Amino acid sequence: MIGMARSLFGANAGSLSAGGTESIFLAVQTARDHAHARGVMSPELVCARTVHPAFAKACKYLDVTQRFTEVTDDGRADPEAMEAALNADTALLVASAPGYPFGVIDPVTDIAAMAAERDLLCHVDACLGGWLLPFWERLGEEVVPWDFRVEGVTSLSADIHKYGYCFKGISTITYRDPELYQRQVFMYDQWPGGLYASASAAGTRPGPPIAGAWATITHLGADGYMRLGARVLEATQGFLAAVDSVDGVRATPTPDMSVFQIGVDADSEVVVDIEAVGDRMDERGWNMDRQQGGLHVMLSPGHDKVATAFGEDLAASVADQGVPLECSTPTVGWSTTRRCRGGWRNEWSFGGPTAPFFDGAGEEPARFVLRQVDDDRFVVEELVLYDDGVISMSLPRREGGAHRPGLDPVLHGVVRTGQRAAHPRSTRARHDVGGDQGGGAIR
Ligand SMILES: Cc1ncc(COP(=O)(O)O)c(C=O)c1O
Repeated sequence: MIGMARSLFGANAGSLSAGGTESIFLAVQTARDHAHARGVMSPELVCARTVHPAFAKACKYLDVTQRFTEVTDDGRADPEAMEAALNADTALLVASAPGYPFGVIDPVTDIAAMAAERDLLCHVDACLGGWLLPFWERLGEEVVPWDFRVEGVTSLSADIHKYGYCFKGISTITYRDPELYQRQVFMYDQWPGGLYASASAAGTRPGPPIAGAWATITHLGADGYMRLGARVLEATQGFLAAVDSVDGVRATPTPDMSVFQIGVDADSEVVVDIEAVGDRMDERGWNMDRQQGGLHVMLSPGHDKVATAFGEDLAASVADQGVPLECSTPTVGWSTTRRCRGGWRNEWSFGGPTAPFFDGAGEEPARFVLRQVDDDRFVVEELVLYDDGVISMSLPRREGGAHRPGLDPVLHGVVRTGQRAAHPRSTRARHDVGGDQGGGAIR
């Protein structure tokens, strides 16, 4: 498997790990120890705001300072901003190929060149793209350079358990320089049990993900990956065309791969509450992850068969998302708390003690009075929870804001009226198009 990874990415050394997070940990640990060996005792990592949280976690555990930089309008890392963040303690620059939130590939060539010029390390996080982009390139797609063919890239993470189509628990971490890889390997003989050596964080490792990955890779072979990659490509084109055809929403920003965010089209006159659209899509059987700027989509082979249905349901969901509230203050409302992926979410209806405006089965309502404080902020007054604290209020996620479970008296966001046409629950199969389900099934 490492042999295949090496030939796919142009690497010279590497190991398997249990997942993207472990691969990233190993790359950060290698960079930290490399920096220590050069006398940099408080090493720093410079990256875009869009890198996966695994880097934050690795930095926390490994005592490395993480310096974030903002992205450009197209969602990509900004080399100039990264350059401005470099200092004498910088050990590692990071680029994503692509990043999870927007599916765009950072300018790896510029970032790696910046690292090479200063004799720094450069890691490419291709956890998502590593096992797909090489096959898209072979299919004739234009793919910007992102792997070891780019001068200055020193390490690369790529998950087999995403677009390698294996079950979870298997990833690769590879290096250009076998000597640098040696810093990842742990060897120890200061005990009476002989030489202990291991290449990744775990000691004893579970065999099933390794055996499963071997079986999958050898079964599919390059031809299989081309065939499935072509289906993911077709799904991507179909879904993006579907999003494009619906007034009010668009891919924000335009992605480079089969992972993207659907957000509000700022140039459209259609008023869209993207979270409400997500809820309507849930009801129609589509599971999309919520993120600050919109709905997250990640496509697998199989989604090529449902692009048209997705477009129809997206258009219908934008049409029946609800109407923005022109609210007089204060107003009386009802809240329905619903569990959603990643937490709790509240729905409100207004205009007096109505039945919960959603079908609400099994959900406990709460009654409250809202006072509007400005255009999009409301203060909840006289909140009555009918189920003694079981209900949590939450903030709808918004750009830059945290999703906080627990009671909070100030609610931000667009509030909608309860006047909405009921529609029957979908009888369609559920389609999981969010999250890191690269190999995920359509349910
Ligand atoms: C770009 C990227 N990097 C790293 C990771 C972390 O991978 P894992 O969840 O396998 O630890 C993910 C997971 O979604 C990812 O999308």
